[in-house]
Amino acid sequence: MITDRVTIFDTTLRDGEQSPGCSMNLDEKLRMARQLERLGVDVIEAGFPIASEGDFAAAKAVASVCRQVTVAALCRTAEPDIARAAEALAGAAHPRIHTFVATSDIHLQHKLRKTRAEVLEMTRTSVRMARNFAEEVEFSAEDATRSDVDFLCEVFAVAVDEGATILNVPDTVGYTLPSEFAALVSNIHDRVVGDKPVTISVHCHNDLGLAVANSLAAIVAGARQVECTINGIGERAGNASLEELVMAMHVRSDQLSFEMNVNTRELYPTSQLLSAIIGFDVQPNKAIVGRNAFAHEAGIHQHGVINNPLCYEIMTPESVGVPSNRLVLGKHSGRHALGLRYEELGYALEHGELDAAYGRFTKLADRKKRIYDQDLITLLSAEMQTSAEVAINGASETRARASSYR
Ligand code: KIV
Ligand code: ZN
Repeated sequence: MITDRVTIFDTTLRDGEQSPGCSMNLDEKLRMARQLERLGVDVIEAGFPIASEGDFAAAKAVASVCRQVTVAALCRTAEPDIARAAEALAGAAHPRIHTFVATSDIHLQHKLRKTRAEVLEMTRTSVRMARNFAEEVEFSAEDATRSDVDFLCEVFAVAVDEGATILNVPDTVGYTLPSEFAALVSNIHDRVVGDKPVTISVHCHNDLGLAVANSLAAIVAGARQVECTINGIGERAGNASLEELVMAMHVRSDQLSFEMNVNTRELYPTSQLLSAIIGFDVQPNKAIVGRNAFAHEAGIHQHGVINNPLCYEIMTPESVGVPSNRLVLGKHSGRHALGLRYEELGYALEHGELDAAYGRFTKLADRKKRIYDQDLITLLSAEMQTSAEVAINGASETRARASSYR
């Protein structure tokens, strides 16, 4: 069944966190989850509970704190995995069990060492079991884009028969091309979904730099859920970047006219928070949230933008939450400018809190030529936090950890 609404499924805390250097502790995951909820994503994939105690605890905590969104937990098509995911989600307002198995011959032979018949049976029993625990079950066919399409459809049909209502088509290795992926989604729609209340989801990796293009092509072809991450973090070259997908649909709504729940003004603060937590920034020229995404260097461009920003800007910085106040913050900046920048980043500081932050700011500014928004998030100290969020003192250019109200 195809509607006009696209569900944004954020997997920053699961697939994103799996990438080297991106691991987060429980407090950090909770801070991110709260911000993702504020951003307006529909689904937060909070972890892979069987993988570790930490993942279990994080999924459980996110499920208990985030009441507006659906909270998903990942599991293989194995009984202990499914039971552990269900246990983690027991307190969720809107739980979703997300179970997956590989369907490509290369994975069947070299990883799972299973026959196609065995994979079909694993799909059947695990979706059935997951449905006993949760109303909402998502089934993913790992490496779908390198799978035999007849077998893929057969597996998906079994998942639907057993009650899965979301069929996810992962381009696990970032191999597909937009036209090919769109054709695959149409094919699955025609052969498996038809007018059943089943949503096709896509999950694209960026090995060829095509994750966003492939996801958009799939949406045009009928997919209605996209799986993505903040700043595009994820295994290897990453996942489709949430901010790019959302803004492509927003800016080009003439071509991609879909409803979403995302508040685009929270994109930049969310990106900054993640960078501060994991300790590395996006590249300066990253679309939407990179430091240079709205910078104009060439005289001819500057002239055009001064006359009318539309000359060289297809969206305003404000529309994605980039502070319009481009005052450079350094050691000569005052409290007022600092307070203003915090406000633009979404942090309302009381007088005393601003004083404390300013004290730390000036110390940092003595050591560092330029202070970035991410540093400011890091600077918010432990005393100023309202919950048990942990502050890690000091800001460093390489490994900054966020302390924040978010
Ligand atoms: O890339 C992938 O195939 C995945 C699945 C588990 C959805 O992350
Ligand atoms: Zn993935």
